[in-house]
Amino acid sequence: MMQTYSFCFQLLPVVASILFILTLRGLSTPSTSDRGNLYGMLGMAIAIFYPFLQVMDFSSPSDTTTLPILIPVVAMLLGGAIGFYIAKKIYMTALPQLVAAFHSLVGLAAIFVACAVLTAPQAFGIIDDGTSSIRIANAIEMSVGAAIGAVTFTGSVVAFGKLHGLISGKRQQYSGQHKVNLITATITIAAITAFVINQAPWLFVVVILMSLLIGILLIMPIGGADMPVVVSMLNSYSGWAATGIGFTLGNDLLIIVGALVGTSGAILSSIMCKGMNRSLVNVIFGGIGGGGAQASETTQSSSDGKNVKLCSPEDAAFIMQNAGSVIVVPGYGMAVAQAQHAIKELADMLKLDGITVKYAIHPVAGRMPGHMNVLLAESNIPYDDVFELDHINHEFSSTDVAIVVGANDITNPAAKTDPTSPIFGMPVLDVEKAKTVLFVKRSLGSGYAGIDNSLFYQANTMMILGDAKKVIEGILRAMKEQAH
Ligand code: TAP
Repeated sequence: MMQTYSFCFQLLPVVASILFILTLRGLSTPSTSDRGNLYGMLGMAIAIFYPFLQVMDFSSPSDTTTLPILIPVVAMLLGGAIGFYIAKKIYMTALPQLVAAFHSLVGLAAIFVACAVLTAPQAFGIIDDGTSSIRIANAIEMSVGAAIGAVTFTGSVVAFGKLHGLISGKRQQYSGQHKVNLITATITIAAITAFVINQAPWLFVVVILMSLLIGILLIMPIGGADMPVVVSMLNSYSGWAATGIGFTLGNDLLIIVGALVGTSGAILSSIMCKGMNRSLVNVIFGGIGGGGAQASETTQSSSDGKNVKLCSPEDAAFIMQNAGSVIVVPGYGMAVAQAQHAIKELADMLKLDGITVKYAIHPVAGRMPGHMNVLLAESNIPYDDVFELDHINHEFSSTDVAIVVGANDITNPAAKTDPTSPIFGMPVLDVEKAKTVLFVKRSLGSGYAGIDNSLFYQANTMMILGDAKKVIEGILRAMKEQAH
């Protein structure tokens, strides 16, 4: 009986790992994402309770001490309550900064665990037999894990500041930036090597301090429009930090989960880099993008004195009802206004009149990967009507109306035409090729990248200024009235 129990118990980490792999598989398509989330929750529940079961030796209850168990249980309940509160309160548009904040905690945890191991290595069983020094392999794992954790921590804090608007989203580059990065990286590697050889605690402190600095130096120069790649890269770093610490603690589950997060984050970063036409190497070493920060400032003021055609929801209703085809381009503003349900209703009405309606999704529309897909799915927009940039861009030239709802950077032609622009090189949706472009947003202000959009002043563009939900509801009302 005891043997069967022990065998089942040993299987738990394997079960959790399989569940995590199924999670990633499930999350790869919107239709299976619910199931993917469920697998993830189950796997995480096993991962959380497994160490407690490990400590509680049921074969000899007298050995079980309550205090060591009580402390993590209280910490977990406290952390769980805070997490629950945040999850309930958070707006979907603020998810990227929440993700960045959570990554910073993973980094911090990696530093804390490594420090705990350093102060009491015997308690973690990593001392070389017959000596008082830490085994070389463990010294490498813990210092590398702590270094990646420290980079993740400060990098994520800076990313949080940029995404939350606490730090300017502009690219902050300086001459000699790559030299400074190289010097700090060299000092860190040298400190890790020295620590592994003589294990002086002050060297470990140098490793952590230098790595904290690297996190700031790498993320600070990156401009707003490139932040999606940064967030997924930090996600990957947090996974590798967890793996390093998993090795130190001899925790197989942590190693597997860390590796899954690390590799999936790296793959996502690579996909995002391709989507944004950026080099992965540049992302890793900091300072990605096209033109400089100054360029963005000069483009920003270029809107002065240009003419804009304004249009009312009633005019927009008339134009759309007389079109044969419409492409909806949703962006961050749709998420802010929660306009997706009104858009679905509008599309249904247009379809009743025989008008083709499609949705064009840019890989970095909104503020997190898949942001628009989630919102459109929430309002039951058929997946078949939703197209990724590569599959729909060629259709704008043969489309009557492109209606841009709260999107800006992802349509900005400067990405194709202005080599000094910070978004230069990023693929954008070719909305300007449609016969008429209807732009729904509240002002002529810029988007996340902080640059002016020449599309607002184009001859075939009409601006409908206002909150996206109210404007779309206005168009709907006008269409219903015109139908009577
Ligand atoms: P943005 O370029 O940020 O443009 C959104 C526009 O929505 C703004 O110009 C704003 O103009 C408008 N808006 C805001 N609230 C609105 C409301 N209630 N009603 C109507 N309009 C509203 O968004 P995008 O085109 O989706 O591009 C995404 C940008 O975010 C890119 O630069 C991307 O690199 C960056 N980013 C993306 C991610 C991911 S992973 N998707 C993560 C971080 C950063 P007004 O103020 O004039 O209304």
